[in-house]
Amino acid sequence: MKSIESLPLVYPTRWPTEPSLTDECVDFVGNGSLQVLPIMLRGDHAFGAEVRGVDWSHPVPEEVVQQSADSHKLVALQDEYAVLIFRSTGLDDTRHIAFTQQLGSQLEVNPFYAGKHNDRVGIDELWDVSNIELDGSLVKPNSRRWHHSLGNALWHTDSSYHQQRSKYSLLLSHGNPKRGGFYTHFADTRRAYADLPAERQQQLAETIVEHDLWHSRALGSPTIYKSPTVEERAKKPPAYHQLVQRAPNGRDTMYLAAHAKRIVGLDPEPASKRDSATKSAGDGEDITASQALIWELIEHCTQPEYVFSMEWLDGGDMVWWDNRQCMHRANPYTTDMSARDVRRSTVVDDGPNAWGVRTP
Ligand SMILES: [Fe+2]
Repeated sequence: MKSIESLPLVYPTRWPTEPSLTDECVDFVGNGSLQVLPIMLRGDHAFGAEVRGVDWSHPVPEEVVQQSADSHKLVALQDEYAVLIFRSTGLDDTRHIAFTQQLGSQLEVNPFYAGKHNDRVGIDELWDVSNIELDGSLVKPNSRRWHHSLGNALWHTDSSYHQQRSKYSLLLSHGNPKRGGFYTHFADTRRAYADLPAERQQQLAETIVEHDLWHSRALGSPTIYKSPTVEERAKKPPAYHQLVQRAPNGRDTMYLAAHAKRIVGLDPEPASKRDSATKSAGDGEDITASQALIWELIEHCTQPEYVFSMEWLDGGDMVWWDNRQCMHRANPYTTDMSARDVRRSTVVDDGPNAWGVRTP
């Protein structure tokens, strides 16, 4: 695994494109009343798009959200591109949640792993993923929240550590006073899987992966999260999911994340024999072979040809991604960072692979 410090702060493919922020650099694809600006195109495969033309000043009409027989709308665009970017939406918390509820019947509730006292928003359906404390100061270096956030700088999918995973994440900016330098990075796991040799695809076909939130926290912060508290571990035991899955766009993909701890059957100790309520992530376990394979695959998926960096420009910018067909990561906190207020809603998956593998 590459260290967080060695990961790029920005990847070669950026959005908006450099050096110009004008539309001359992009291809427009008209789609009814919406304009779709693809970010990465290769043959008939696309990854990431900016979508314009949504009127966010009113509730988004259902016919704009859902796919209809004669016109592909937002959900269909999401299935195709996996990451959709909307600029200057003007959404507030209430309308952020309302739009998210149009995309699924159940929203994930923020479990406050880093401590409820840190949460400025106070709304169960929103995750405060800002770098701001209750009193308006920035997250303190070496605080538990600081260390918890480091795992987000590793490539991951949100909530793969839940046995019923989540499908969509919608991250909305409420402003970053200092413009420039804020990025979220996305990797296309569908294209990366398609580029694997057929023999490798066959080898991976039946692979089951154990996902554990505390594993990624320990990778991000080995000092603080080597031993998560008993309460933390009891709140979130591991989950099990197939590695290779059919993505919503109909192509196969790899469901991977820094939360991925063990390949079931590859390392000596069966996961089911462990006492997950008391054991720390990695304590006394040999997961060497699993981690070697997991990080070989993550590094394959995150080569520059599969990755773009989305730059946050203004408050109201929103990115909606599908955790089932891409990975993402943030840049790590730094001691010279400025304030950034971003909040996330998350839609629980109700699709055929939502519950993963119940008994590994
Ligand atoms: Fe995330």
